[in-house]
Amino acid sequence: MSASPKARPERLITDIASLRARFPALDQQVHGKRLVYLDNAASSQCPDVVLETMLEQQSRNHANVHRGVHALSQRATDAYEGAREKVRAYLNASGVDEIVFTRGTTESINLVASSLGGSLLEPGDEVLITQMEHHSNIIPWQLVCERTGARLVPAPITDRGEIDLDAFEKLLNERTRIVAVAHVSNALGTVNPVERIVELAHRAGAYVLVDGAQAMAHMRVDVQALDCDFYAFSGHKMFAPTGIGVLYAKRALLERMPPYQGGGEMILTVSFEKTVYNALPYKFEAGTPNITGAVALGAAVDFLSTIDFDALAAHEHRLLDYATEKVLALGAHVIGTAESKAGVLSFVLDRVHAHDVGTIVDSEGVAIRTGHHCAMPVMERFGVPATARASFALYNNADDVDRLILGLKRALEIFA
Ligand code: ALA
Repeated sequence: MSASPKARPERLITDIASLRARFPALDQQVHGKRLVYLDNAASSQCPDVVLETMLEQQSRNHANVHRGVHALSQRATDAYEGAREKVRAYLNASGVDEIVFTRGTTESINLVASSLGGSLLEPGDEVLITQMEHHSNIIPWQLVCERTGARLVPAPITDRGEIDLDAFEKLLNERTRIVAVAHVSNALGTVNPVERIVELAHRAGAYVLVDGAQAMAHMRVDVQALDCDFYAFSGHKMFAPTGIGVLYAKRALLERMPPYQGGGEMILTVSFEKTVYNALPYKFEAGTPNITGAVALGAAVDFLSTIDFDALAAHEHRLLDYATEKVLALGAHVIGTAESKAGVLSFVLDRVHAHDVGTIVDSEGVAIRTGHHCAMPVMERFGVPATARASFALYNNADDVDRLILGLKRALEIFA
């Protein structure tokens, strides 16, 4: 973010107001005050079109997919596969066989760690991650490293919360088989230079997984331009419901990787002697999938396709600058001051523990997240047990920031 003087970002509020009206959850009172929702990095709200799609799917078209000749099963299958095509087009993947529906980012990463990692890694091999990863991009690799004798190597981050690219490059070597890195840090807001990271990792002969959980609501991602081998994300952080996510993977890799889970749907023929697996992507979709979730994700993708992402980025950056200046004026310490940030503001107040901050601002109707944000190594790196985190989405405005600041002032008064 630039450090230029921050005007109250009024200019886009009119546009944001019409967007905001499409999110029914925002239109409510909490503790007698208008809800201000600033916990979007944990989970974002759903717009009307996503909620209507879920109701329609569940009330009119519900049946299992790929299994029935009857009308409802056909409709459910068409809707489910239609959603896959929407996601493919949105990501610019080369085929629908590269789009695997999962429960979310966590399952997507576990799939790659278990299937690719489990079959590829040997004792002495290395998996390179960074110090800023979410637990879901650490523990699956720890598990597979324990299983295979490979080593998990965390690349350091700087005091601003950026990947130290020189150190990262030096850690890449002929033993590095997989690199796994967040596109955007959930705890710091840092937008990582993933294009460069993919280039460096490929030059070293490693596969690259990008954890896109925090990126999808803030930017357009083109997986072919990025050239990553895997891109993982969750629906519920991009205006769809929980329990649905995506693993994009290059076809050639999915073809070589063994199944992650066994069950119905992922097979062509089964006998006690031998099972023949289904074609991609079904080989990786064992069991009845989250059909309504996938269809709703398709609706969220349609919704996001109508957003001008350049205008959105400018709006979110103005809000972030405005909020940053305001919390600094209260004496807060901002954790994560990267040059390139998405709409995430993590901070600590000297006199008030983050959990108390969260409770007091909640009593003022303002929802933020407090704690370690499932990124304990980040907290350790910055020497804090927890932070308070305000995270913005396309429906937030300057009034929301003002309300947060009022809540923080109240917290400071209480703990004065
Ligand atoms: N990963 C989510 C967060 O950052 C839950 O809050």
